[in-house]
Amino acid sequence: MKITSISHTDTFEGTVLLPVFETQSKVNFNGIELSKAIFSGKKDSHYIYEKNSVFFIFIGLGKEVDYKAVKTIFRRVASKEKHLFCLNSTIVVPDAFSKMNVEAAVSGLYLGTYNLGHFKKSDLHPFLNPNFELILIAKNEFLNAAQKGLKIAKAQLEVYNLVDLPPNVVTPKYLSNWAAESGKKYGFTTTILGEEACKIAGLDAFLSVGKGSEKEPQFVIMHYEPINYQGEIPIKHIGLVGKGITFDTGGLNIKTAAMVQMKCDMAGGGAVFGAMQLIADLQLPVKITAIVPCCENAVDSASFLPSDVIKSYAGKSIEIIDTDAEGRLILADGLSYLIKNYNPEIIVDIATLTGSSMATFGHECAALFTNNDFIAGKMQLAGDSVGERLWQLPLWDCYKGDIKSDIADVKNYSGKPLAGAITAAKFLEFFTENHPAWVHLDVAGVAFNDDEFAKTKHATGFGVHLITNFIENL
Ligand code: BES
Ligand code: MG
Ligand code: ZN
Repeated sequence: MKITSISHTDTFEGTVLLPVFETQSKVNFNGIELSKAIFSGKKDSHYIYEKNSVFFIFIGLGKEVDYKAVKTIFRRVASKEKHLFCLNSTIVVPDAFSKMNVEAAVSGLYLGTYNLGHFKKSDLHPFLNPNFELILIAKNEFLNAAQKGLKIAKAQLEVYNLVDLPPNVVTPKYLSNWAAESGKKYGFTTTILGEEACKIAGLDAFLSVGKGSEKEPQFVIMHYEPINYQGEIPIKHIGLVGKGITFDTGGLNIKTAAMVQMKCDMAGGGAVFGAMQLIADLQLPVKITAIVPCCENAVDSASFLPSDVIKSYAGKSIEIIDTDAEGRLILADGLSYLIKNYNPEIIVDIATLTGSSMATFGHECAALFTNNDFIAGKMQLAGDSVGERLWQLPLWDCYKGDIKSDIADVKNYSGKPLAGAITAAKFLEFFTENHPAWVHLDVAGVAFNDDEFAKTKHATGFGVHLITNFIENL
């Protein structure tokens, strides 16, 4: 897809997209006038009109719009009306649209190309043709917003693929290869530690989780810096860590429910990969070090055992109460490695960490944990503005007792089905060396969900835009 903009035209070809607010007194365009009884601009409605072989799609926006609503409406049109698009399309941008609205509209359109049927034969969406042209009728300054919307959607589509492809395809190696390739294409560097290198480094908690799998663990480290930064303020250094469990059987504490969904357990890692691509694509003025420990939590005679005591990169011993609480183990090593070797000013980790966060917030919002109020506010704001909402839960020390072990420095689970998201966060905190600006996002409920686009649960890309927007507005 190519995007161009013009301020005015009278001749139309292809398919014309006409977003309409419900508050508009008239729905008319280029000689077409719709009665409000036929099309009122109601949210979640659209109306197709054909004149001289040109399709006009009137798109209802309702009375007012937010980022997510615009994105979803445009995604629906692109996806459900795929057959109406050919080689070009025009969007008539309403005067009331902001840059963010334009960004969301273009993102939505491009995400509408997604097809969950990876293993079925199907025609490519017309938007995926590199020569497809999207023409904005808008003020020139909206072109950048549209181009940004496209970059966001491209990064999110990559994450959709990584999360939705099955775990026999998306192995730890597949993820490390993806990172290396994306890094070459978009401009970040990648260092990959395989099993031997991890042993030498002492990433024992990470290796313990992967022990039961035939698939070699991959500890992926990525770095980004803008090319030719010439701004006056020194750029900030931000660290990202994402959970990259390519499949979570639960290990020997094998899952008895919803195991079939556990290919999603690398979605936090996926969000970090997507954010790296997007940040590099946008050439944001920041320095990023990102780590995604990738492995599979499998069942085997070599699997780690409940009651094992394992070591960790930080030198702290961990008593394993439950092998299904594996995410916090690989994140512990990811966080320790990041802090010891790179010590970034701000650290964000993101993970499908606990069923408890999903039980608390359902599929509507992710759990946010931090001891830093400034960061909490910025993160919350980023989430609200891009439609990826967060709500903060406490990190009070009264929960510390739950992970206190009699025989090791810490245990990986309290053994009680209480306050699961909080005690998991307390476990991570134990490995952050009192870092003053660490934030943990538990996205178990929001990373993978069903919606109007498919009945099977699938990736949402949650985190890619959130993290990027957070970093942009620090
Ligand atoms: N991968 C799961 C968390 C999860 C649940 C992700 C639902 C996506 C949807 C995680 O590794 C896990 O199994 N957590 C356990 C921890 C428990 C054993 C302490 C949980 O939340 O039940
Ligand atoms: Mg997966
Ligand atoms: Zn688990």
